[in-house]
Amino acid sequence: MADDKVHLKLKRVTIRNFQNRDAADFFEYRSDPIANILQGYSPLTALEQAVDYVDRQKNNIFGQAGHWVQLGIVENASNKLIGDIGIRPQDYDPRMVEIGFTVASDFRKKGYAKEALSGLFAWLFWEKQIHRIMAITDTENQATIRLLEGLRMRREGKTIKSFWNQGAWRDEFLFALLSEEWMTH
Ligand SMILES: CC(C)(COP(=O)(O)OP(=O)(O)OC[C@H]1O[C@@H](n2cnc3c(N)ncnc32)[C@H](O)[C@@H]1OP(=O)(O)O)[C@@H](O)C(=O)NCCC(=O)NCCS
Repeated sequence: MADDKVHLKLKRVTIRNFQNRDAADFFEYRSDPIANILQGYSPLTALEQAVDYVDRQKNNIFGQAGHWVQLGIVENASNKLIGDIGIRPQDYDPRMVEIGFTVASDFRKKGYAKEALSGLFAWLFWEKQIHRIMAITDTENQATIRLLEGLRMRREGKTIKSFWNQGAWRDEFLFALLSEEWMTH
C-alpha cells in the first residue's frame, strides 16, 4: 500500500519510510556506543542487524495503536539517511502519540531535528488529527530538552528512577504538546 507510506519533504530534510539502501547509514549511527547513550538502546554490532531492522520497518504504516513505526530522516542535499523518528499511538487511545528521535553525530546542531519534528508535528496535527504528542527524555539529555522546549512542548513532569540505563535508574522528563496549542501559535 505505497499510498499509505509517509513522505514529508521539508526544506532541508525529508521524513519517509525506510528503504533498503538506508541500512549502511542506519548501522553507522546506531552502532555508536557513546552518541546515543542517554537513549538506552543497545548499539548495533553487525550490519546484518541494520539490514533486518530496515527490512522490517520499511513497509510499516503509521497509526496502529500501541505499535512503534520508525521513519527515516533524509538530508535532501545528499539523499543520505541522517536519523530517524519513532512514533507510537497509545494503545488506550491512538489519538495520542509518543515520539522518539535520533540524528547522526555528524549532522547534529544544524537544526535538522527541529526542522524534522516541526514538519512531523504539522503532519500529525493537521493531517492525522492527533490530539497530543508526548516525548520522554533523560533529565540530563540537554540536547533533547532544548529541542523540545524550542518546539514549544510543555515540560509536564519528572519521573524518578523510571528508566534503567547503563546500570542505574535514571530520572526522566515528560514533555507534551496539544493540537489546540499548536494551532493557536
Ligand atoms: C537530540 C538530537 C536529536 C538533537 O538533534 P539536532 O539535529 O542536533 O538538533 P537541532 O540542531 O535541531 O537543535 C535543536 C535545538 O537544540 C539545541 N541543541 C542541540 N544539541 C545541543 C546540545 N548538545 N546541548 C545543548 N543544546 C543543544 C540547538 O542549539 C537548538 O536550539 P535552538 O532551537 O535554541 O537553536 C540529537 O542530539 C541526538 O540524536 N541525540 C541522541 C539521541 C537522543 O538523545 N534522542 C532523544 C531521545 S528521547
